[in-house]
Formats: sequence, C-alpha cells, structure tokens
Amino acid sequence: MRFGLAGTGYWARVTHAPALRSTAGVELAAVWGRNPQAAAGVAAEYRATPYHDLSAFLAAVDAVCFAVPPDVQAAIATRAARAGKHVLLEKPVALTEAAADGLVEAVERAGVASVVFFTNRFQPDVRAWLAEVEARGGWAGGASAWLGSALRESSPFNTPWRRQMGGLWDVGPHVVSLLWASLGPVTSVTADAGLADITHVVLHHEGGATSTTTLTLSATEAAAGFEVYVWGESGRLAAPIGSVDRVTALSTALGELAANARAGQTGHPCDVRFGRDVGRVLAEAQRQIDARRAGRPPA
Ligand SMILES: NC(=O)c1ccc[n+]([C@@H]2O[C@H](COP(=O)([O-])OP(=O)(O)OC[C@H]3O[C@@H](n4cnc5c(N)ncnc54)[C@H](OP(=O)(O)O)[C@@H]3O)[C@@H](O)[C@H]2O)c1
Repeated sequence: MRFGLAGTGYWARVTHAPALRSTAGVELAAVWGRNPQAAAGVAAEYRATPYHDLSAFLAAVDAVCFAVPPDVQAAIATRAARAGKHVLLEKPVALTEAAADGLVEAVERAGVASVVFFTNRFQPDVRAWLAEVEARGGWAGGASAWLGSALRESSPFNTPWRRQMGGLWDVGPHVVSLLWASLGPVTSVTADAGLADITHVVLHHEGGATSTTTLTLSATEAAAGFEVYVWGESGRLAAPIGSVDRVTALSTALGELAANARAGQTGHPCDVRFGRDVGRVLAEAQRQIDARRAGRPPA
C-alpha cells in the first residue's frame, strides 16, 4: 500500500517516517509539506517523492499518514477521504466539532478505512491491561493525570497550536481514549481550569463509573508524568504507560489500517468516529472553561 506522509516536522521525522519504513506491506511513496525544502529532505532520506501540490500528492498514493497540526489535518484529511484515500490520523482529529463531523462524513461516504493514533492504544501491554480491566469488571471509577512539560522553551513539542490549545487538546485525547476504553463511553463532562493551561475534568461513564483527570503542558520537567488507574471491587489497576516505543506503536496502527483497507473493513476501535467522540468530550470541556472565564456559569 502506497502511503503519503503529510508533514515534515519533528514528530513526522522521528515517528511517522521511520514507522512507515519499518511496516510490512506499506511503502512511504510520497512526502507533502508546506516547506518544499523540508519535504525534499525527508523524501530524499526515504527514497520517496516530495510534493508541494496537494492534488498531485493525493493522486500518487493509496493512503495518507498525517503529522500536521489538527486543524490542518482535518481539512486535508477530508479532501484525502473524498479522493478515496485511507487515513492514518493524529489526535485530536480536529479542533472543532464541525470539522470533525465533516471529516467523519467524508470518510463514511468514501468508504475508506481510518485509524487515529492514540499512541497507548497500540501498545501491547496497554492492550493487555484493557483486556484485564474488561475481564475483572466491577469498576467504580478511575483517576488520571498527564502533567506534560511540552511548553518549556527547549521542547520540540512547543509548537504554535499547543501554545494556543494547551494540554486539554494535546494530551487530553490520550487520557480520554484510555478512560473511555476502560470505564465505558463518556456520558457527561464537567471541567474547570486552574493556573496556566491546567484543566481538571470529571467524566461520567455509561454504566455509572466516574473518573477524574488533570491535564497540562506547563508542568516543570521535575513534576512531569502520566498516570491512569481504575479502581473498584477487585482493587486498583494502573495502566502500564511508562515507556512507549512510539515507532512500533505507530507501525501497529499502520498495519491495522492497511489490513482493514485490504479487507474492505472500515471499523476500528480507534477509527475516525471514535476520534470525533473523544473530540466532543474535549469541546464540551473547553466550552465550560470558556464560559467560566467569561463569568457565565456553564449550562
Ligand atoms: N500520538 C502522539 O503521541 C503524538 C505525539 C506528538 C505529536 N502528535 C500529533 O502530531 C501532529 C503534529 O504535531 P507537531 O507537534 O509535529 O506539529 P507542528 O510541529 O506544529 O507541525 C508539524 C508539521 O505541520 C506543518 N504545518 C504547521 N502549520 C501548518 C499549516 N498551517 N499548513 C500546513 N502545514 C503546517 C509544519 O510545517 P513547518 O515545518 O513548515 O512549520 C510541520 O511540517 C499533531 O496532531 C499532534 O497532536 C501526536
């Protein structure tokens, strides 16, 4: 399957391009970027063809793997799906509900396969944890915190869209994805903000469990860390999210997308519909935070 890589930034270079090279049955055929020199550089390293023209890029591939900011991704992925290309998306799938809905509609109409790279969901040990969570059952709740330090000056992740949207939209998708998968679909959201970009969220899950989370990108390196656990009748079960092999995880996601595309199968536990549903949780949290900041009690 001929893949195009959209994006030539840090994350594309350390994760997407190496994963595309190392995945069986997948070829990195084309690289698109807004910066022609950067596209030429990545393409040369992987013996792919660089493109600046998006239509020519899409015409050259069967599928597109995205590593661009979420609002840019939503627009290009909608166009890619309409052109019949399978899509390997990054989280969050979009920054507005309208853009996410438009992307889902384009994917469904075209009948293409989609997978969203919620990194931890493609780790074997986290999948084993989720299987144990399901097998044990009886969970009353969950708790999580992602204290990220991406907004420090020297971080390669200190990018314009993260500075604008903060931890809720950058690390929030990973956390909501895990809490949703372990405790059930989210039925309601309550959110409030602290200092800087700190967000606190309470989720109610189908079946009655509740979970809490704290999200930020402005923690110091000394405070940084990520933890998720569920608790209930049988005790407490923490997700093994310490060390992530991101290239292997993305390679798993690429392999599953390619297998689904070959089989004409469009559903996946982390497909674009799930990406949209996670985005709805974030958008509702953002609405409440904005309302509180404006002095209006959230509806
Ligand atoms: N799954 C994970 O664990 C994980 C980890 C890290 C990142 N990500 C995701 O990867 C995606 C990219 O993140 P990032 O930090 O690499 O973003 P970024 O550095 O802001 O941008 C990456 C690429 O997008 C290009 N770009 C920026 N703005 C653009 C625009 N308006 N039009 C066209 N291209 C544009 C950049 O081009 P220039 O080089 O010309 O600026 C660069 O090639 C995000 O969705 C993020 O959530 C996921």
